[in-house]
Amino acid sequence: MSVRKIKEDIYAVGAIHWDRKTFDDLIPLPDGTTYNSYLVKGREKTALMDTVDPSKTNELMNNLEEAGEEIDYIVAHHAEQDHSGSIPDVLKHYPDAKVVCTPKCKTMLTDLLHVPEEKFMEVNDGDVLSLGNKTLEFIHAPWVHWPETMVTYLKEDKILFTCDFLGSHLATSKLFAEDESKVYESAKRYYAEIMMPFRTAIRKNLDKIEGLDIDLIAPSHGPIYKNPDFIINAYKEWISDEVKNEVVIPYVSMHGSTAAMVNYLTNALMERGIEVKPFNLTVADIGELAMALVDAATVVIASPTVLSGAHPSTIYAAYLANALRPKTRFASIIGSYNWGGKMVEQLAGMIKNLKVEIIEPVVIKGYPKEEDFKLLDKMADEIYEKHKNI
Ligand code: FEO
Repeated sequence: MSVRKIKEDIYAVGAIHWDRKTFDDLIPLPDGTTYNSYLVKGREKTALMDTVDPSKTNELMNNLEEAGEEIDYIVAHHAEQDHSGSIPDVLKHYPDAKVVCTPKCKTMLTDLLHVPEEKFMEVNDGDVLSLGNKTLEFIHAPWVHWPETMVTYLKEDKILFTCDFLGSHLATSKLFAEDESKVYESAKRYYAEIMMPFRTAIRKNLDKIEGLDIDLIAPSHGPIYKNPDFIINAYKEWISDEVKNEVVIPYVSMHGSTAAMVNYLTNALMERGIEVKPFNLTVADIGELAMALVDAATVVIASPTVLSGAHPSTIYAAYLANALRPKTRFASIIGSYNWGGKMVEQLAGMIKNLKVEIIEPVVIKGYPKEEDFKLLDKMADEIYEKHKNI
């Protein structure tokens, strides 16, 4: 990808990673991603806003060469390597450049990339830096999604550079978000996988940028937003305490007993007007599961019993849900055993971060019988009653 103009003297110089399929060796990326880096050319100084993943350093360096500017500042909004990883190479080519970042980010860049002390310029919350006719205002925005994160407001052009915050894992040749329904899905997936545990911090950071007059939001993943309200309102919806009349059922079944219970419960909930999202964990995209957890009022984990405990795939799902801390209000467990086990205790112990009311689990012996299905009807009734009040 070559240099692309955003506005007068502001250019996109980052890279598109079309075929990246996982992030952190954890998160599926069905649509690839981008590492956005922006060049802001003032009359006196030039700043580079973030760099790119080390795998794309050559593309960034070629773009900077094409832009033909001296780099005076590298603004590092976030220390994670997909944005900071090319800083050492940029510093090698532009040895007078200073890395502008929060004090916490400085510590991290020192630890992660061994950037030397003399290369840094720390900025506090609210500090400004003049590039001549362009002014950068640094706004500390911790915990989106690491503790050191900040955003930058380019006053004259009314652009907010947000790095991960408000971004999306979406490889696209479009510089700007045009297909809003597609970008909404990608941004929601990104929120679910990366940002959801930090709802409280996000609320504070949204309040902090509320008063800014913003024309463009330029994140470091995915397209630029010409309509800032689109993504800000989406975030407000996701972080709100409101939940939807939905039940998410992550499940595994070894010999069909748990699957029969899941099918029965799914139908029983549907008959009561509740939206149900079952995820067979042996084939599910874990990102889709995370997205479903953004809104659902209830999660029901369904597992067979393996060697006296829960199936490892449901343990993974429970661990993930616990780590992502969705705003789910109710939770339960269903499943089957043959000769015994502690599946319920094990799974319940793994979701302690969730501030949920537990609905009486239904764990049965063998393949479900008539009386077992009746228990699932009772569970569906209880969920229906609880959801009536949301
Ligand atoms: Fe895109 Fe947290 O790195």
